[in-house]
Amino acid sequence: MELKDRHLTPRELREIVTEKARDSDSWAADIRFDLTERHYRRLHRDDDVEVWLICWDIGQDTLLHDHGGSVGAFTVVSGSLFEDFGAVGRTGLRTRRHAAGDTVSFGADYLHNLVNVGTEPAVSIHAYSPPLSTMNFYCWLPTGMHHLRELACDSPEPETTALETAAATLRELACDSPEPETTALEAAAATLRELACDSPEPETTALEAAAATLREAVR
Ligand SMILES: [Fe+2]
Repeated sequence: MELKDRHLTPRELREIVTEKARDSDSWAADIRFDLTERHYRRLHRDDDVEVWLICWDIGQDTLLHDHGGSVGAFTVVSGSLFEDFGAVGRTGLRTRRHAAGDTVSFGADYLHNLVNVGTEPAVSIHAYSPPLSTMNFYCWLPTGMHHLRELACDSPEPETTALETAAATLRELACDSPEPETTALEAAAATLRELACDSPEPETTALEAAAATLREAVR
């Protein structure tokens, strides 16, 4: 993966999220929990770094993704998060649990899925450098890592109609046959269109449905 021109180091980002977590006066009023979607708020942005508050209601997850060449860090403020993590171009994922106070920093080839599997909401603070401009979403299957789509992160109004149509196609393919042709599913996945977004939390509901369909298809 190609590194972007300007960026802080993961260690510097670790310090930023740790310091921001201590400064609760600057984000406590922004905490919201919504079962229909994660609540998030950008706390800071300049040319080199952006910082986000993310509020996780129970069961919410991100779908497996990288950060488009940015490095990053996050710290759990309250609750807990499980993380499947690995690296672009490598096989296998590992899983770990992060409790309140735990902090993770990562390089440009890092990919992960974060999920709140606890019975209470969770809050975390994330930093990326340079600020996110794209993210790649993946689906982990027994046959390996499948890239779904790269999503551009520069529009506040992503168009999801075509993506939802593609996801419906995937579901239909998976239901039509107990042993669906994986190639056809992968071709359908390739039709998932690029989404625009303006945050590290683009709308991925349809992608998650598509990923679930793919997982079911190879069982
Ligand atoms: Fe992430």
